[in-house]
Amino acid sequence: MAARGLSPFSCLCLALFLLGLWLPFATPRILEEETPSSLLVRFEQWMALHGRQYMDAQEKEQRFQIFQENLKFIDSVNAEGRPYKLTANKFADLTNDEFRVTRMGFKGHECAARASDAPFMYANVSAPTSMDWRKKGAVTPVKDQGQCGCCWAFSAVAAMEGIHQIKTGKLVSLSEQEVVDCDTKGEDQGCNGGFMDDAFKFIINNHGLTTEAKYPYKAVDGSCKKASSLAATITGYEDVPTNNEKALLKAVTSQPVSVAIDASGYEFQFYSGGVFTGNCGTELDHGVTAVGYGTSGGTKYWLVKNSWGKQWGEAGYIRMQRDVASKEGLCGIAMQPSYPTA
Ligand SMILES: *[C@@H]1O[C@H](CO)[C@@H](O)[C@H](O)[C@H]1NC(C)=O
Repeated sequence: MAARGLSPFSCLCLALFLLGLWLPFATPRILEEETPSSLLVRFEQWMALHGRQYMDAQEKEQRFQIFQENLKFIDSVNAEGRPYKLTANKFADLTNDEFRVTRMGFKGHECAARASDAPFMYANVSAPTSMDWRKKGAVTPVKDQGQCGCCWAFSAVAAMEGIHQIKTGKLVSLSEQEVVDCDTKGEDQGCNGGFMDDAFKFIINNHGLTTEAKYPYKAVDGSCKKASSLAATITGYEDVPTNNEKALLKAVTSQPVSVAIDASGYEFQFYSGGVFTGNCGTELDHGVTAVGYGTSGGTKYWLVKNSWGKQWGEAGYIRMQRDVASKEGLCGIAMQPSYPTA
């Protein structure tokens, strides 16, 4: 099977706030008399809530304009009665182009083809109608990758935390920073993106990972520190058969599964709750973890743990429509799922 051109999941992180990434702006217009002051009050409340500060009045005005455009979009989507809602979350002062821009520059990288012929250990599993690994104690609290494009590490570590709890009965929060700092081979480039399968390879070679507490998350690329003790390990990893939501169901029935998605959509940016059925591409740019599934109001969904903090989505989670018409799944969720074994 030929290698497919894929870009490391760079995670749409908040690196946007780093200098130099701002897109050029049109000359800002001065706040006009008729601008509803209630909107400005709302913006300032939003700024306070998210601890946002701008360099000067001009930048604040530019961000206020974008905020208002986003509010219009959010209100228009919410007025349509879709099965999900949007909100002015921490991304509300970014245009969708800015939201996407962090994954630019990672396109065209080649990665090893997935072993689609490999045996699928859960091929004969029968899936119940719903699953929630949180209720089984296999999911740590939602984390926040912050301004670092290392979703791939969060995705892999969450899947590892899951299989470790299933095998040992102990839920241990493990160190993403150890992966970011120490897994520097090949396509894995810390805050600049990487792949979950490569993270699993690293963890196997590293004989495991230490705890979050012992090697805390810093949201920057650091030098690799030799972990004093390893808290959990994995023996291997497997890819779920590609573009097959039924196979994904069997895998998620069995353990939390790392999935890659296209998280660049305008609706995705502001998702706040419900079953997401929004416009979505299949340019995989974000790594997250499927930790369950179910049905709500007749719509089947995947329960997905994100790493954008508890303020995004449903306390850090998103429910994404399951069993859609396209074989790739919504936002490409069925394209590259994988899980560690232990
Ligand atoms: C699934 O069942 C088939 C038929 O019984 C069997 O040949 C196959 O080995 C099983 N696969 C796994 C992964 O257990």
